This record gives sequence, C-alpha cells and structure tokens, in this order.
Amino acid sequence: MEVARAIGVDIGGSGIKAAVVDVRTGVLVGERVRVPTPQPSTPDAVLAAAAALVEQLGAGLPVGVGVPGVVLGGVVMSAANIDAEWIGFDVRDALAGRFGVCSVLNDADAAGLAEMRFGAAAGHPGVVLMLTLGTGIGSALFAGGLLVPNTEFGHIEIRGKDGERRASAGARERRGLSYKRWAPLLEEYLRRIDALVWPDLIILGGGVSKRADRFLGLIDVRPPVMPAALLNGAGIVGAAVRAAEQDDGSPGVT
Ligand code: BGC
Repeated sequence: MEVARAIGVDIGGSGIKAAVVDVRTGVLVGERVRVPTPQPSTPDAVLAAAAALVEQLGAGLPVGVGVPGVVLGGVVMSAANIDAEWIGFDVRDALAGRFGVCSVLNDADAAGLAEMRFGAAAGHPGVVLMLTLGTGIGSALFAGGLLVPNTEFGHIEIRGKDGERRASAGARERRGLSYKRWAPLLEEYLRRIDALVWPDLIILGGGVSKRADRFLGLIDVRPPVMPAALLNGAGIVGAAVRAAEQDDGSPGVT
C-alpha cells in the first residue's frame, strides 16, 4: 500500500522539530512543531521530547527520525553535539515500543534525501554534496541519486580544529561574527571539502540557508553552491520520506 503521509522528526543540537509530511510532494501538512533540545541532551530526555511532538501531531503514521550522529542499523555511533550517552543507543528499538516501526538516519542524510528528491538537486545525475550548517556541520553525499550514508565531513580538520568548530552556523554565533566575517571561514572549509570530494554541486542547508543572500555572494569556490530549497525543513521531509518508504517495503540502508 502506498503511504502518502508520514511524520518526520529532526533532532538537532539546539532544537527538535517535527511535522506531518506529504511524502509524494515533500510539502509539510499543517504546522511544524518545535521544542528546544533538552539539556543535558541524553537519549531518554530527547526521545521523550520527540515523542511528545509526535503525539501532538497525531498517531498512526510512520515515523522517521533524523539524529545528529552516525546511525548504523538504528543504533547511534557518534555524538559530537549531543550527550555522549547516545553512543551505542538503539533509537529504533527505543521508539518501536511507542510508534511501531521507526526509521532512523543521520540528520544531514535526511536533509540531503529531501533536497535530492524535491529540492535544489532534484533529479541531479552527478555527485552532489549537501552540507547542513547548524550547531555542527552535517554532510550527505550522493552519486547518481544514491546516498553514501554517514559521511562526517563536518569533522575534517582545518588549522588543527574540527571543520565544524570553525565554520558552522553555531561557530559564527558563538564567536559573534557577522556574515561578512564568517564567509571566509566557510569558504576555506568548502575549498577543503572540494579538494577531497570534487562534487558537481554543493547545497547548503540549515537555518542559515534562509540568509544565503548575506554570504553566498562572498564565497568563491570551484563547484556551484546553492542554498537548500527546503531551507530548514529538509531534515523533517527526508526523515518522513525514509519512514514512508520503509513502511512501503522498499529497501532501506540503515
Ligand atoms: C555530527 C553529524 C551531524 C552534524 C549535524 C555533526 O557534529 O557528527 O553526524 O550530521 O553534526 O547535526
């Protein structure tokens, strides 16, 4: 049976966002709900907050969850911007009791899936790199429309530091930098990634994609760089699509 709607949940370092998504169009159905990520951001506290959002949106739909870490088989393997208790935590198992089958994937992979299907890279046949600029930097790499899951390009070292510590939107805010002062740091980061991956297209997502006019013109890199078409909603849409497709019997990687 074709699933038309699913709930997407995007767990981030600073907020948890969720919405019902029409998975055939990628459009949010009704309101997007958000709560701040609980601190400390332990799995129990975060999943309780996420579950409350899902319940608010209505029961009975497939649920997909994007988490800010590497995810293998529903288990989180890394935790750069969330509590270390997440490492080794089986999210899929923890949520199955509440919502039935849940799909769990990396948050940037979810955002990339949405942009590949409905957004800035829809139908792109080549190598596409989606980068989400938030608390950290998430990455999703596609070739011929297929995702290579769990790339972690936010952690490429630049000048002795994790790339995301220098160039994420969170780093800009922490250091009180204007977009103009931040742009060279982002440019340096993008050049480094380009030298390693040589993508045909880079898409920038996360909250700052709404402000792309403030910094994209200041960045000079080889590949075309576009803001995410789904802006900050891509992570929700991608998680919902993954949930609907798994529910539909399609093979899922993670
Ligand atoms: C994590 C990634 C995540 C990204 C964005 C990074 O610190 O390692 O897994 O996708 O932040 O949330």
